[in-house]
Amino acid sequence: MLVIVTGVSGTGKSTLGALLAERLRLPFFDADQFHPEANIAKMSAGQPLTDEDRIPWLQAMADQLIKSEKSGGAVLTCSALKNSYRERLAVSDAIRWIHLTGDRDLIWERMSARKNHFMKAGMLDSQIALWEKPMTGYLLDITGTPEQLLEASLNYLKSQPMKMKMGVIGMGVMGKSLALNLAEKGVSVSLYNRFVAGKEEGIAQKVVDENPEFSNTQAFEDLQKFVDSLEKPRRILMMIPAGAAIDAQLDTLMPILEKDDLVIDGGNSFYKDSERRVERLKEVGMHFLPMGVSGGEEGARKGPSIMPGGNAEGYAMVEDFLGRISAKDKDGKPCVTYVGPGGSGHFIKMVHNSIEYGEMQVLAELVHLLRFGFGCTPEKVSEIFTEWGQGELKSFLLEITADLLLFKENGELLLDKILDQAGQKGTGAWSLTTALEYGIPYSPLAESVNARGVSGEKAMRVAFSKTFHHEFKKVEGSLETWLPKIKAAYSLARIINHEVGFRLMKTVSDTKDWKLNFNEISRIWTNGCIIRSGLMENISANYSDSVSFFEMEGVKEQVISGRKSLAELVGLGLTHGFALPVMSAGINYLFGRITAESSASVIQAQRDYFGAHTYQRKDDPSGKAYHTEWSK
Ligand code: 6PG
Repeated sequence: MLVIVTGVSGTGKSTLGALLAERLRLPFFDADQFHPEANIAKMSAGQPLTDEDRIPWLQAMADQLIKSEKSGGAVLTCSALKNSYRERLAVSDAIRWIHLTGDRDLIWERMSARKNHFMKAGMLDSQIALWEKPMTGYLLDITGTPEQLLEASLNYLKSQPMKMKMGVIGMGVMGKSLALNLAEKGVSVSLYNRFVAGKEEGIAQKVVDENPEFSNTQAFEDLQKFVDSLEKPRRILMMIPAGAAIDAQLDTLMPILEKDDLVIDGGNSFYKDSERRVERLKEVGMHFLPMGVSGGEEGARKGPSIMPGGNAEGYAMVEDFLGRISAKDKDGKPCVTYVGPGGSGHFIKMVHNSIEYGEMQVLAELVHLLRFGFGCTPEKVSEIFTEWGQGELKSFLLEITADLLLFKENGELLLDKILDQAGQKGTGAWSLTTALEYGIPYSPLAESVNARGVSGEKAMRVAFSKTFHHEFKKVEGSLETWLPKIKAAYSLARIINHEVGFRLMKTVSDTKDWKLNFNEISRIWTNGCIIRSGLMENISANYSDSVSFFEMEGVKEQVISGRKSLAELVGLGLTHGFALPVMSAGINYLFGRITAESSASVIQAQRDYFGAHTYQRKDDPSGKAYHTEWSK
C-alpha cells in the first residue's frame, strides 16, 4: 500500500504520516528528504522554488514510490499543493491520498504552539493561496487529536480496498504463521481458508480478528473473491497438506488464475509430484514454485529456512518477500536461495527431513542409554546435552532435547507420560525409497524411519518383552570414563547422518543435472531450520565437490578419532539390551565404506555357485566375466 499524506505546513502531515507508517508497518518518507542540493541551497538562501525547481524533487519521490511499491509499500508526506505536483507523484493505482485541510486560524495556532516554530504567517498564507482542491483522495479535516485523525485515515484506507501483494491458502499452523510473518514484514496478504460447514468456518477471519495489529491483512472464504483481491500477476502460497489436496486445490484454482500468475507449494510435497505440477502450470503459462519451509511454527512466524525451487521466473516474483520473512545466517544473509529447477526445492527439504529423523533418533537412543543404562536422571542428561551444546556440537535438536528433559507436568516428567510410538508424515520414507532408486547406501537414515515403524508396534513390543524377558541391564563402568567416548560417538553418528543425506542429494543432483550448490544449501540450513547446527556451519564453509564429505576439513579428524568410540558405545548398548538402530547402522555403514577388502567376494561366489551369475577376478583388471562349475 502506498499512502501519500498532503497538506500545507502546519497541518500535522508528519505526525499523521509517522503514525500511519507505524500502524501499517510501512517505511516512512518525508518530502524534505528528496530535494536536490540546488533546491536546498536556494531554500537556505531564502529564495522561493519555481515549478521547474520542483521537477527533480517530485521525480525523486516518484522513483521512491515505484521502488517502495515493489517492496510492499510506504507512507510519504508531501505538501503537494498543486494538482500538477500530485499528478507527477501518481505513479501507481495503489496510491491512496489523504489530504489534510483545516481552518487557517487553527493551523496557525497549532504552528505557533510548536517548539521550533519559525514560519511567518505570510508564508502560511502564501501556501494556502497556492493550494488547489484535490481531484481525488480523502479530504480530512484536521480538527481532532492525532489519534482521531489516524483512526479516520485507517477507516478510509479500509474502505478503499487495496489489491494485496500475496495470498496464502490454508490457515493451519504453518499457513497462519507465514501469513502473519509476511504481514509483519510489510507484505499485504489475503488469507484464505476453505469453508466446511460445522468444521471449518470463519477460520481466516479469526486469524485477522486475533491479530488486529496487522491492518494489511484480509480474510476470505470464497476462492474467487480471494483471487480477485490480489495484485496481478498474482502470487499465491499454498500451505495445505501434501498429496491429493494439492492437486485438488490446483484444480479449483487454475481455472480462475491467469497467465504469469505464481502458485507456491510451501508444504512437504513429494518432489516427483512437484515436478509434474511445475510442468502442469508451465503448459498454461503459469509459474509453480515447490518450496521447502523448515522451522516449525515458531520458525514460520519469526524466520524459517526457505528452499524454493522450480520456475526461476516465479522465484524472482517473490525473492524480496521471502528474503524478508526468512531467518538470517551469521552474516545477516537471508536463509533462502533459489535451489534449482523442477522439484529440487522439495527434494532437498525431503532429505533435510531425513537427516532430521536421523538426528532425532540418535538423541533418543542416547537419552535412553544414559538414563536406563548409566542410571542418569533426566536432569543429568539435560546437563550433559547442555554442556555439549556450548561447543561445536551445538544444534537446535540437542538444545530442545536438553530442554524437554526438564519439562514437568504436576511435578512429574512429562516425557515419561508420552506414548512411545513415533509418528511420521512421509518425508523420511520417501528419502529412503529415493536412495534405493538411485542405488545410494542409506542404512543409517533408513534405520531412523524403521525405528519409528518398530515403535508403532507397541502392543507387540509389550507382549514380546514379557515372552523373552527383555530388560535393560545397568552399565558397570563409570559415566565419567564413558562420557568422552559417548560425546565422540555422538559427534561421529551425526557426521555419518549428514554424509548419507548429502551423498543422496549430490547423486540426484548430478543425475538430473540440477547443479545444486551445497555450500549454499547448507548455508540456508544454518539458521531457521530444524537441523541448524555447528556442524551445518562447518559444512557450509568447507563443503567441496572435489573432496569427499568424510575427508572434509573439520570432519576427517572426527572420523579418525571417533570410530572406536562409536563402535564401543554401540557394543556396550547392544550387550546391555538397548536397540541403537541409527548409531549401530552408522558405524556399520562407516566401516563398510572404509574397508578395502569387503566380504562381497563371498556373495559373488554364492551368486555364481547357484545361478551362474558370473564374477570378476582381482587378478584380471579387464573386467572379464568368469564362471566356475562349483559343484564339480
Ligand atoms: C521442519 C520439519 C517439518 C516436519 C515435521 C514433522 O523442517 O520444520 O521437518 O517440516 O513436518 O518435522 O515431520 P514428521 O511428522 O514426518 O516427523
